[in-house]
Amino acid sequence: MSRLICAATDLLDGGDGLRFQVDTAGGAQAAFVLRWHGGVYAYLNQCAHVAIELDWNPGKFLDVDGEYVMCAAHGALYEPDSGRCVGGPCVGQALRRLMVSERNGNIYLEAEA
Ligand code: FES
Repeated sequence: MSRLICAATDLLDGGDGLRFQVDTAGGAQAAFVLRWHGGVYAYLNQCAHVAIELDWNPGKFLDVDGEYVMCAAHGALYEPDSGRCVGGPCVGQALRRLMVSERNGNIYLEAEA
């Protein structure tokens, strides 16, 4: 069952991500959603290197060029559209993706982790 995360206008392309919580088998976990190159992508807010949150300030997920999701701890770089790590200590691993959709002016979580 889908769940409303936010209004579509809350996400600027290449702008801040929006943090939210998801229910997982292990309990509630931090997640985030962002808009990048026109698409909307969501992941658990947990680095593949060490299981800590990625953003250096709440909602600040992208690097200075806006090209990668960057972990604030050791600089792992993730492709925003795939979650795949392409730089840093966990190259080849990936963020855990959450399925989201954009419809009727809103962003919905379609599946919990
Ligand atoms: S914890 Fe993210 S790069 Fe080390």
